[in-house]
Amino acid sequence: MSVLKILTWPHPLLARDCDPVEEIDSAVRHLVSDMLETMYAAEGRGLAAPQVGQAVRLFVMDTGWKERAPDPVICINPEITWSSPETTAMDEGCLSIPGVSARVNRPAQVHMRWTALDGSANEDDLSGLAAICAQHELDHLDGIVTLDRVDRQTRLALIEEYTA
Ligand code: NI
Repeated sequence: MSVLKILTWPHPLLARDCDPVEEIDSAVRHLVSDMLETMYAAEGRGLAAPQVGQAVRLFVMDTGWKERAPDPVICINPEITWSSPETTAMDEGCLSIPGVSARVNRPAQVHMRWTALDGSANEDDLSGLAAICAQHELDHLDGIVTLDRVDRQTRLALIEEYTA
């Protein structure tokens, strides 16, 4: 395993639609183990493949590892199939936008489907931090970052803070 370089905004790979993972082969398994090591080393709770230079639909997350034992979830070709009408606003950091925290409004609960590393089909109702983290990471697979989820004025202020 190795710690990968995390691309930072505005790298073009962070703004493109990623391709589905066609086959879970050794390259994908290798990428996942490197991504987990990279996420933990960077003290993040989630990391998406485009953030480490691979434009494929895959992310890893572990929302509770700072408080509990590590329990990573590996989401391949994830899809949100339901979003609650209720929304919640949380201050979201992003390993690709270091030092910037953006208050993003999102559905409070979602239902997500994904393929696990062993190829099995999974689905779950997510709420709390897991729902927010999953939506943030899935956004990366669609080329969307937190700066694209705030109003124009906030975006400009955050970019100014980021580039200062
Ligand atoms: Ni992010």
